[in-house]
Amino acid sequence: MTNSNHLEEDRNQDGCETEYPFHITKEQDRDLRQKAARAIPSPIISQASFFDEYVQQLMIPPVVMDMARKAENMRLSSWEVAAIRKHLSPSKHPDGKVGLLRRILRLKAEADPSHPPYIRVACTGKSQYDYLAEADGHIREPLHEDKGDIGSPVVLEIWPAQHYSPIHSHGETTGIVFCLAGQLDVMLYKSLDWNAEKLGLTTLSPGQCAWLSKDTYPVHRVYCPLNGGEGKTGPGFINSTEEFGASFHVYLDEDEVPMMPHDYEVHHNDIEKHPSHSRETFNFISEDKREEDKFETHSDLSWAVLRRVLAETEIS
Ligand SMILES: [Fe+2]
Repeated sequence: MTNSNHLEEDRNQDGCETEYPFHITKEQDRDLRQKAARAIPSPIISQASFFDEYVQQLMIPPVVMDMARKAENMRLSSWEVAAIRKHLSPSKHPDGKVGLLRRILRLKAEADPSHPPYIRVACTGKSQYDYLAEADGHIREPLHEDKGDIGSPVVLEIWPAQHYSPIHSHGETTGIVFCLAGQLDVMLYKSLDWNAEKLGLTTLSPGQCAWLSKDTYPVHRVYCPLNGGEGKTGPGFINSTEEFGASFHVYLDEDEVPMMPHDYEVHHNDIEKHPSHSRETFNFISEDKREEDKFETHSDLSWAVLRRVLAETEIS
């Protein structure tokens, strides 16, 4: 079934058509933001300034607070941002080619037009499109040919303006989504289902951190609300600007977070790790069929490769 077949379902009770990616009205947007702002525990970690903020964050697991604290001073540097923008730009470089990130976006959009793609950069291991850095002449030294790995515990995600993820679950992992640059909207869902109840909507700016665990906020959708140029976002859309949001993600599997309360039972019974519960595979709701599917967490680029490409990019 294509998305056009779902148009009726994308109307709210008043018959107004709702838009990608969240399919909500302006009133629902406002209500969901208030819901997220009042939620206990808070889906966002910040330095509390008021009693209420402190109370809302009190029940955030210590392991999550530790991850957030370690990330709190991280940002992309201004030259990294400038180089990423150059590689996301739809205009051609002097050699007649588009940048590496735009090239990958186009390949990903061709492979899966159900939603505008984002780029996963694994901070460990090898990734799918590493070879393009060399093939397109973005780096001088050759790379070692290796197959891609899955399940990196630390991932940098680059979200071109107006691009978004499907609704997905992080299973039984515990982690953070830390905004490094731009702006990111995060919609939280109660369960992994196209029609799942929405728990709240929040916007992350650089320095702000969302979190998730097996029991709390594991299902979400991420969207970059910045200016994507002409046209409306949705299936088949690719933006025409170089605006982006970037986020730093850490996912720990159950056996790596000894401070989590449910962990003792699992270890005691020596239950084998289930792939869809670990960071090797995440379940998601496909944008076209609106049914549950699995995503092996391959990455598009490795940080070691992207760092070299960015460092070798001339910024005018
Ligand atoms: Fe996610």
